[in-house]
Amino acid sequence: MTSTTSIPRTSHAHDQQAYVLGTGVDETARLGLQHRLWSAATHELWERAGVQPGQTVLDLGCGPGHAAMDLAQLVGPTGRVIAIDESASFLKQLHDNAVARRFHHVERVLGDVQDLGTTLAGELSHVDVAYARWVFCFLSNPEAVIEGLARVLRPGGRVAVQDYFNYERSMTLAPRCEAFTKVIHAVAASWRARGGDTDVMGKLPGMFVKHGFTVEHLDVCQRIARPGSTLWHWPNSFWQTFVPKLVETGFISDADMNAFYAAWERASTDPAGFVLLPPVFELVVRKD
Ligand SMILES: C[S@@+](CC[C@H](N)C(=O)[O-])C[C@H]1O[C@@H](n2cnc3c(N)ncnc32)[C@H](O)[C@@H]1O
Repeated sequence: MTSTTSIPRTSHAHDQQAYVLGTGVDETARLGLQHRLWSAATHELWERAGVQPGQTVLDLGCGPGHAAMDLAQLVGPTGRVIAIDESASFLKQLHDNAVARRFHHVERVLGDVQDLGTTLAGELSHVDVAYARWVFCFLSNPEAVIEGLARVLRPGGRVAVQDYFNYERSMTLAPRCEAFTKVIHAVAASWRARGGDTDVMGKLPGMFVKHGFTVEHLDVCQRIARPGSTLWHWPNSFWQTFVPKLVETGFISDADMNAFYAAWERASTDPAGFVLLPPVFELVVRKD
Protein backbone atom coordinates (compact mmCIF):
# COMPACT_ATOMS: atom_id res chain seq x y z
CA MET A 1 0.00 0.00 0.00
CA THR A 2 1.27 3.49 -0.80
CA SER A 3 0.95 6.14 1.85
CA THR A 4 -1.94 8.57 1.35
CA THR A 5 -2.58 7.20 -2.14
CA SER A 6 -6.07 5.98 -2.90
CA ILE A 7 -6.14 2.35 -3.92
CA PRO A 8 -9.49 0.95 -5.07
CA ARG A 9 -9.73 -2.62 -3.79
CA THR A 10 -13.21 -3.85 -4.58
CA SER A 11 -16.04 -3.22 -6.99
CA HIS A 12 -18.39 -2.59 -4.04
CA ALA A 13 -17.02 0.89 -3.56
CA HIS A 14 -19.62 3.55 -4.28
CA ASP A 15 -20.91 6.71 -2.72
CA GLN A 16 -24.20 8.40 -2.00
CA GLN A 17 -26.44 5.40 -2.69
CA ALA A 18 -24.64 3.18 -0.18
CA TYR A 19 -24.30 5.09 3.06
CA VAL A 20 -27.75 6.04 4.27
CA LEU A 21 -26.63 9.37 5.82
CA GLY A 22 -24.92 10.51 2.59
CA THR A 23 -21.38 11.74 1.91
CA GLY A 24 -21.97 15.44 1.23
CA VAL A 25 -20.29 18.40 2.93
CA ASP A 26 -23.16 18.59 5.44
CA GLU A 27 -22.46 15.04 6.59
CA THR A 28 -18.70 15.70 6.74
CA ALA A 29 -19.31 18.69 9.02
CA ARG A 30 -21.72 16.68 11.18
CA LEU A 31 -19.19 13.86 11.52
CA GLY A 32 -16.52 16.39 12.53
CA LEU A 33 -18.69 17.85 15.28
CA GLN A 34 -19.70 14.36 16.40
CA HIS A 35 -16.05 13.30 16.56
CA ARG A 36 -15.19 16.34 18.69
CA LEU A 37 -18.08 15.71 21.11
CA TRP A 38 -17.23 12.02 21.51
CA SER A 39 -13.45 12.30 21.37
CA ALA A 40 -12.93 11.99 25.16
CA ALA A 41 -14.75 8.64 25.31
CA THR A 42 -13.03 7.56 22.12
CA HIS A 43 -9.52 8.30 23.39
CA GLU A 44 -10.25 6.42 26.60
CA LEU A 45 -11.36 3.43 24.56
CA TRP A 46 -8.19 3.55 22.43
CA GLU A 47 -6.15 3.50 25.64
CA ARG A 48 -8.08 0.43 26.80
CA ALA A 49 -7.36 -1.20 23.44
CA GLY A 50 -3.65 -0.45 23.92
CA VAL A 51 -3.08 1.89 20.94
CA GLN A 52 0.63 2.82 21.00
CA PRO A 53 3.36 4.39 18.86
CA GLY A 54 4.66 2.11 16.14
CA GLN A 55 1.47 0.04 15.82
CA THR A 56 -0.57 -0.79 12.76
CA VAL A 57 -4.13 0.40 13.38
CA LEU A 58 -7.14 -0.20 11.16
CA ASP A 59 -9.95 2.39 11.04
CA LEU A 60 -12.99 0.59 9.61
CA GLY A 61 -15.56 2.85 7.92
CA CYS A 62 -13.31 5.84 8.61
CA GLY A 63 -15.52 8.42 6.83
CA PRO A 64 -13.58 11.66 6.13
CA GLY A 65 -11.01 10.51 8.68
CA HIS A 66 -11.52 12.53 11.86
CA ALA A 67 -10.59 9.54 14.06
CA ALA A 68 -7.95 8.29 11.60
CA MET A 69 -6.05 11.58 11.91
CA ASP A 70 -6.02 11.30 15.72
CA LEU A 71 -4.89 7.68 15.45
CA ALA A 72 -2.10 8.78 13.10
CA GLN A 73 -0.84 11.12 15.81
CA LEU A 74 -0.99 8.34 18.42
CA VAL A 75 0.86 5.67 16.40
CA GLY A 76 3.32 8.26 15.07
CA PRO A 77 5.45 8.06 11.93
CA THR A 78 6.82 4.62 12.88
CA GLY A 79 3.27 3.24 12.88
CA ARG A 80 0.58 2.91 10.21
CA VAL A 81 -3.08 3.82 10.03
CA ILE A 82 -5.02 1.90 7.40
CA ALA A 83 -8.30 3.74 6.85
CA ILE A 84 -11.03 1.89 4.95
CA ASP A 85 -14.26 3.29 3.60
CA GLU A 86 -16.60 2.63 0.70
CA SER A 87 -16.86 6.36 -0.08
CA ALA A 88 -14.28 7.76 -2.48
CA SER A 89 -15.22 11.34 -1.60
CA PHE A 90 -14.68 10.75 2.14
CA LEU A 91 -11.29 9.14 1.38
CA LYS A 92 -10.34 12.11 -0.79
CA GLN A 93 -10.96 14.44 2.16
CA LEU A 94 -8.83 12.21 4.37
CA HIS A 95 -6.09 12.29 1.73
CA ASP A 96 -6.13 16.10 1.55
CA ASN A 97 -5.93 16.40 5.35
CA ALA A 98 -3.19 13.79 5.63
CA VAL A 99 -1.11 15.54 2.95
CA ALA A 100 -1.62 18.95 4.58
CA ARG A 101 -0.39 17.56 7.90
CA ARG A 102 2.39 15.47 6.30
CA PHE A 103 0.95 12.26 7.77
CA HIS A 104 2.64 9.91 5.31
CA HIS A 105 1.75 6.90 7.44
CA VAL A 106 -2.00 7.15 6.72
CA GLU A 107 -3.03 4.67 4.03
CA ARG A 108 -6.43 4.72 2.43
CA VAL A 109 -8.32 1.73 1.13
CA LEU A 110 -11.50 2.10 -0.90
CA GLY A 111 -13.68 -0.92 -0.32
CA ASP A 112 -16.20 -2.88 1.70
CA VAL A 113 -15.35 -3.65 5.32
CA GLN A 114 -17.49 -6.78 4.92
CA ASP A 115 -14.88 -8.14 2.49
CA LEU A 116 -11.58 -7.61 4.31
CA GLY A 117 -10.22 -10.80 2.70
CA THR A 118 -10.12 -8.86 -0.59
CA THR A 119 -9.62 -5.30 0.64
CA LEU A 120 -6.72 -6.22 2.95
CA ALA A 121 -5.39 -9.29 1.19
CA GLY A 122 -1.77 -8.46 2.07
CA GLU A 123 -2.33 -7.76 5.77
CA LEU A 124 -2.76 -11.28 7.18
CA SER A 125 -2.05 -11.21 10.98
CA HIS A 126 -0.40 -7.76 10.69
CA VAL A 127 -2.88 -5.51 12.48
CA ASP A 128 -2.42 -4.58 16.16
CA VAL A 129 -5.71 -2.74 16.74
CA ALA A 130 -8.85 -2.34 14.65
CA TYR A 131 -11.35 0.40 15.41
CA ALA A 132 -14.96 0.82 14.22
CA ARG A 133 -17.23 3.63 15.36
CA TRP A 134 -20.82 3.94 14.11
CA VAL A 135 -20.15 1.56 11.24
CA PHE A 136 -21.56 -1.85 12.26
CA CYS A 137 -25.04 -0.28 12.65
CA PHE A 138 -25.05 0.38 8.87
CA LEU A 139 -23.99 -3.09 7.75
CA SER A 140 -26.13 -5.97 6.51
CA ASN A 141 -23.48 -8.59 7.36
CA PRO A 142 -21.55 -7.58 10.50
CA GLU A 143 -20.34 -11.14 11.02
CA ALA A 144 -18.42 -10.95 7.73
CA VAL A 145 -16.40 -8.04 9.18
CA ILE A 146 -15.57 -10.10 12.26
CA GLU A 147 -14.48 -13.06 10.12
CA GLY A 148 -12.16 -10.71 8.22
CA LEU A 149 -10.80 -9.18 11.44
CA ALA A 150 -10.00 -12.66 12.78
CA ARG A 151 -7.70 -13.04 9.76
CA VAL A 152 -5.96 -9.64 9.66
CA LEU A 153 -5.36 -9.15 13.42
CA ARG A 154 -2.23 -10.56 14.98
CA PRO A 155 -2.74 -12.95 17.92
CA GLY A 156 -3.28 -10.74 20.98
CA GLY A 157 -4.47 -7.87 18.74
CA ARG A 158 -7.60 -6.01 19.75
CA VAL A 159 -10.78 -4.61 18.23
CA ALA A 160 -12.44 -1.52 19.74
CA VAL A 161 -16.03 -0.71 18.75
CA GLN A 162 -18.43 2.12 19.59
CA ASP A 163 -21.96 1.55 18.39
CA TYR A 164 -25.67 1.47 19.20
CA PHE A 165 -28.03 -0.84 21.05
CA ASN A 166 -31.62 0.06 21.97
CA TYR A 167 -31.38 3.32 19.96
CA GLU A 168 -35.05 3.39 19.01
CA ARG A 169 -36.44 3.02 22.53
CA SER A 170 -33.80 5.13 24.25
CA MET A 171 -33.69 8.35 22.28
CA THR A 172 -36.43 10.43 23.89
CA LEU A 173 -37.29 14.08 24.24
CA ALA A 174 -38.29 15.15 27.75
CA PRO A 175 -41.12 15.85 28.25
CA ARG A 176 -42.16 13.04 25.86
CA CYS A 177 -43.42 14.14 22.48
CA GLU A 178 -45.14 11.98 19.85
CA ALA A 179 -43.83 14.01 16.86
CA PHE A 180 -40.25 13.40 18.08
CA THR A 181 -40.74 9.68 18.74
CA LYS A 182 -42.24 9.20 15.27
CA VAL A 183 -39.07 10.52 13.65
CA ILE A 184 -36.84 8.30 15.80
CA HIS A 185 -38.77 5.23 14.61
CA ALA A 186 -38.40 6.48 11.03
CA VAL A 187 -34.63 6.89 11.46
CA ALA A 188 -34.30 3.29 12.67
CA ALA A 189 -36.61 2.02 9.90
CA SER A 190 -34.59 3.85 7.23
CA TRP A 191 -31.33 2.26 8.44
CA ARG A 192 -32.98 -1.19 8.54
CA ALA A 193 -34.26 -0.70 4.99
CA ARG A 194 -30.58 -0.45 3.85
CA GLY A 195 -29.60 -3.54 5.85
CA GLY A 196 -28.49 -1.66 8.99
CA ASP A 197 -29.44 -2.40 12.59
CA THR A 198 -29.72 0.16 15.42
CA ASP A 199 -29.55 -2.80 17.87
CA VAL A 200 -26.32 -4.22 16.46
CA MET A 201 -24.27 -3.89 19.63
CA GLY A 202 -26.59 -6.43 21.28
CA LYS A 203 -25.22 -9.04 18.88
CA LEU A 204 -21.56 -8.11 18.39
CA PRO A 205 -20.02 -9.49 21.63
CA GLY A 206 -21.44 -12.97 20.91
CA MET A 207 -20.30 -12.83 17.28
CA PHE A 208 -16.75 -11.93 18.32
CA VAL A 209 -16.65 -14.78 20.85
CA LYS A 210 -17.85 -17.20 18.14
CA HIS A 211 -14.86 -16.17 16.00
CA GLY A 212 -12.18 -16.68 18.64
CA PHE A 213 -12.13 -13.34 20.48
CA THR A 214 -12.34 -12.69 24.24
CA VAL A 215 -14.43 -9.81 25.53
CA GLU A 216 -12.19 -7.56 27.65
CA HIS A 217 -14.44 -4.51 28.05
CA LEU A 218 -18.14 -3.90 27.53
CA ASP A 219 -19.84 -0.75 28.78
CA VAL A 220 -22.20 2.01 27.78
CA CYS A 221 -21.89 5.77 27.64
CA GLN A 222 -25.39 7.18 28.27
CA ARG A 223 -25.60 10.94 28.06
CA ILE A 224 -28.29 13.60 28.05
CA ALA A 225 -28.17 16.98 26.33
CA ARG A 226 -29.77 20.15 27.59
CA PRO A 227 -30.69 23.14 25.41
CA GLY A 228 -27.82 25.59 25.25
CA SER A 229 -25.19 22.92 25.97
CA THR A 230 -22.51 21.99 23.46
CA LEU A 231 -23.87 18.45 23.33
CA TRP A 232 -27.26 19.78 22.18
CA HIS A 233 -25.58 20.46 18.82
CA TRP A 234 -25.04 16.71 18.30
CA PRO A 235 -28.70 15.75 17.79
CA ASN A 236 -29.36 19.20 16.35
CA SER A 237 -26.84 18.68 13.52
CA PHE A 238 -28.31 15.23 12.83
CA TRP A 239 -31.84 16.63 12.47
CA GLN A 240 -30.59 19.28 10.05
CA THR A 241 -28.90 16.80 7.74
CA PHE A 242 -31.06 13.71 8.05
CA VAL A 243 -34.70 14.64 8.69
CA PRO A 244 -35.15 16.16 5.18
CA LYS A 245 -33.67 12.92 3.77
CA LEU A 246 -36.38 10.96 5.62
CA VAL A 247 -38.98 13.00 3.73
CA GLU A 248 -37.18 12.51 0.39
CA THR A 249 -37.07 8.75 0.94
CA GLY A 250 -40.72 8.56 2.05
CA PHE A 251 -40.18 7.48 5.67
CA ILE A 252 -42.05 10.53 6.98
CA SER A 253 -44.33 13.16 5.45
CA ASP A 254 -43.74 16.91 5.19
CA ALA A 255 -46.29 17.35 7.98
CA ASP A 256 -44.33 14.92 10.20
CA MET A 257 -41.13 16.88 9.53
CA ASN A 258 -42.79 20.20 10.32
CA ALA A 259 -44.31 18.84 13.57
CA PHE A 260 -40.90 17.44 14.50
CA TYR A 261 -39.03 20.70 13.86
CA ALA A 262 -41.69 22.66 15.79
CA ALA A 263 -41.27 20.31 18.78
CA TRP A 264 -37.48 20.56 18.56
CA GLU A 265 -37.59 24.35 18.37
CA ARG A 266 -39.84 24.47 21.46
CA ALA A 267 -37.49 22.12 23.29
CA SER A 268 -34.47 24.21 22.28
CA THR A 269 -35.82 27.18 24.22
CA ASP A 270 -36.99 25.23 27.28
CA PRO A 271 -34.23 25.48 29.88
CA ALA A 272 -35.95 22.77 31.96
CA GLY A 273 -36.09 20.22 29.13
CA PHE A 274 -33.56 17.65 27.94
CA VAL A 275 -33.08 14.91 25.41
CA LEU A 276 -31.98 11.40 26.36
CA LEU A 277 -29.33 10.64 23.75
CA PRO A 278 -28.85 7.25 22.10
CA PRO A 279 -26.64 5.08 24.33
CA VAL A 280 -23.21 4.54 22.75
CA PHE A 281 -21.94 1.10 23.72
CA GLU A 282 -18.23 0.36 23.77
CA LEU A 283 -16.56 -2.97 23.30
CA VAL A 284 -12.94 -4.13 23.37
CA VAL A 285 -12.20 -7.71 22.34
CA ARG A 286 -8.85 -9.53 22.08
CA LYS A 287 -7.97 -12.09 19.46
CA ASP A 288 -6.88 -15.25 21.27
C1 LIG B 1 -21.52 7.30 10.66
S1 LIG B 1 -20.15 7.22 9.57
C2 LIG B 1 -18.84 7.02 10.78
C3 LIG B 1 -17.51 7.50 10.28
C4 LIG B 1 -16.37 7.34 11.28
N1 LIG B 1 -16.22 5.98 11.72
C5 LIG B 1 -16.58 8.24 12.48
O1 LIG B 1 -16.83 7.72 13.57
O2 LIG B 1 -16.52 9.46 12.30
C6 LIG B 1 -20.23 5.61 8.82
C7 LIG B 1 -19.15 5.37 7.78
O3 LIG B 1 -19.17 3.99 7.40
C8 LIG B 1 -18.95 3.91 6.00
N2 LIG B 1 -19.48 2.61 5.55
C9 LIG B 1 -20.77 2.18 5.64
N3 LIG B 1 -20.87 0.93 5.14
C10 LIG B 1 -19.61 0.56 4.73
C11 LIG B 1 -19.06 -0.62 4.13
N4 LIG B 1 -19.83 -1.68 3.85
N5 LIG B 1 -17.74 -0.64 3.85
C12 LIG B 1 -16.96 0.45 4.10
N6 LIG B 1 -17.43 1.58 4.67
C13 LIG B 1 -18.73 1.64 4.97
C14 LIG B 1 -19.68 5.11 5.44
O4 LIG B 1 -19.23 5.45 4.14
C15 LIG B 1 -19.33 6.16 6.48
O5 LIG B 1 -18.13 6.81 6.17
